[in-house]
Amino acid sequence: MRGGTVVERFGLAGRRALVTGASRGIGRAVAVAFAEAGADVALAARDVEALKRVAEEVEGHGRSAVVIDCDLADSARAEAMVKAAVDGLGGLDVLVNNAGVMRCVGPFTDLDEADWAATLGVNVGGAVATCRAAAPFLAAGGAGSVVNVASIMGLGGMPFAASYAVSKAALISLSQALAMEWAAHGVRVNALAPGWTHTAKTDAVSGDPAAFDVAVASVPAGRWADPDEIAAAALFLASDAASYVTGQCLAVDGGWSVDLAGPGLRGMLAALGGRTPVGDG
Ligand SMILES: NC(=O)c1ccc[n+]([C@@H]2O[C@H](COP(=O)([O-])OP(=O)(O)OC[C@H]3O[C@@H](n4cnc5c(N)ncnc54)[C@H](OP(=O)(O)O)[C@@H]3O)[C@@H](O)[C@H]2O)c1
Repeated sequence: MRGGTVVERFGLAGRRALVTGASRGIGRAVAVAFAEAGADVALAARDVEALKRVAEEVEGHGRSAVVIDCDLADSARAEAMVKAAVDGLGGLDVLVNNAGVMRCVGPFTDLDEADWAATLGVNVGGAVATCRAAAPFLAAGGAGSVVNVASIMGLGGMPFAASYAVSKAALISLSQALAMEWAAHGVRVNALAPGWTHTAKTDAVSGDPAAFDVAVASVPAGRWADPDEIAAAALFLASDAASYVTGQCLAVDGGWSVDLAGPGLRGMLAALGGRTPVGDG
């Protein structure tokens, strides 16, 4: 653990962070939150013009930004991406593997091999290659931190999205394995599991009123997250506030992942008006 007040430990003053998938959505929110918390940030994705706009936001907080054009579908590019981040920032303390795709939704028996490979390639292959390339730099300062952006779909059964769910379960497992391997080097590795979050990725659902109603009803909190709510959790895991937290998966999902009742049973129990149909205890 590093020093400072408890509030300072929730910040990233003087840290250097690489965020993949930083061109929009959750990655953009993480990058901007990290800058607000005092970090210089390397921003990686394919849409360079969008990255430049995020860089302006980072710089608006008085921090340095490095824009890196990287397609993580080609995991061989991860090494050059990490090198560009290290060269541009002067080192690396925090890595957020956020870039992700959801290519195939549908029955498992209709699974397209190319979609399967593309989903696993970016979501898992990209993060694995990035972790490997970043490891020596994260260990150099003796207090590195990795946050792998998984999903609550990696925590339980999700029909009709097998490839995405498998990729996110793999990221959670990877986080646990690396946490064990790297603890002795002072590097913490955790996973973040967002639930429904308003981004371009979920526009198709939020833009369809009937689908959106069903999706919102699935969440005990009764609403979706904004990306900055996910970014706040990423900041916690990246910061010294989480200095004794490693190998964990933090769900940020309005309660969805622990909801045994689901909207139907929740509604029925609520309709009982507090009267219990079962005995005490
Ligand atoms: N939104 C949700 O409800 C939700 C829920 C759970 C988990 N998540 C996870 O959160 C992460 C961010 O999702 P989001 O909702 O913010 O999605 P998004 O708006 O679609 O953004 C995805 C980001 O990943 C980047 N990316 C995609 N393919 C890439 C590639 N081949 N190489 C490099 N970068 C690539 C995109 O940048 P470019 O297109 O510029 O390359 C973009 O910055 C993902 O891992 C996602 O699975 C999201």
